[in-house]
Amino acid sequence: MSTPAFRFDEVGAWSVIKLEIVEKFGVAYTKAFANNPRLKKYYIDGFSGAGVHLARGTGAVIEGSPARALKVQPPFDGFCFIDMNADKTAHLQTLCQGRADVDIHTGDCNSYLKEVLPTIRYEKYNRALCLLDPYGLHLDWEVIALAGASRAVDMFLNFPVMDMNRNAIWHNPDKAPKGGIERLNRFWGDETWRDAAYVESPQTNLFGDPPDLVKQGNDAIVAAFQKRLKEVAGFEHVPEPLAMRNSNNAVVY
Ligand SMILES: C[S@@+](CC[C@H](N)C(=O)[O-])C[C@H]1O[C@@H](n2cnc3c(N)ncnc32)[C@H](O)[C@@H]1O
Repeated sequence: MSTPAFRFDEVGAWSVIKLEIVEKFGVAYTKAFANNPRLKKYYIDGFSGAGVHLARGTGAVIEGSPARALKVQPPFDGFCFIDMNADKTAHLQTLCQGRADVDIHTGDCNSYLKEVLPTIRYEKYNRALCLLDPYGLHLDWEVIALAGASRAVDMFLNFPVMDMNRNAIWHNPDKAPKGGIERLNRFWGDETWRDAAYVESPQTNLFGDPPDLVKQGNDAIVAAFQKRLKEVAGFEHVPEPLAMRNSNNAVVY
């Protein structure tokens, strides 16, 4: 491995679990299509990173999602890796040297995926596994909607629970920061997250003020997003989410 001019991301145990799931899912995905050579199966990684991480604490080298996708057998027919950090995509280039089946793009994945996803066409026998793994609320609902509408894209989404709770869904909705609310609106596609995030307190007040709003737990919000993936984005199957926890047992994704 060449030494980069920047520091690789340090990742915790939950990231390693996520990477193992993505890798195993990738193998099952390409195997499922192995008997149908007409189908072209692509791997799209919207927040790809550099392809290499370091384990927090030990510094051990951990292969990132693009490096794992490149090893999947039977192989994908093509790869699209996107990251807005030019140092990371430059390092990724070194891992993909000489490969004609890899497209690496430096920039915001939201605008690039709005061009790429419509090229994955069910009726043209294209299929894609698309990993959307942002640190926080940096994804645009339009991208999710395009993936759902295609009927040809399987999406693996890391739902940024911690960023949502820290920066948008506060116990007092009136005090939540505007920037966080805007990012959540963009991620969710509209403001209907408020219906899942807050319910009116059953306690009455003496002065006829509007009822207090009570913030709901992660499960209610995530369940509403699952419903939205099915009913608004049009994904046929939306499995139960798996909580990724940090060393303090708090749900991060
Ligand atoms: C959680 S890391 C991805 C890790 C990678 N998927 C893996 O498992 O090996 C998120 C990455 O998204 C990149 N990023 C953040 N915002 C982005 C955006 N709008 N478009 C593309 N990349 C972005 C960051 O530079 C970072 O490398």
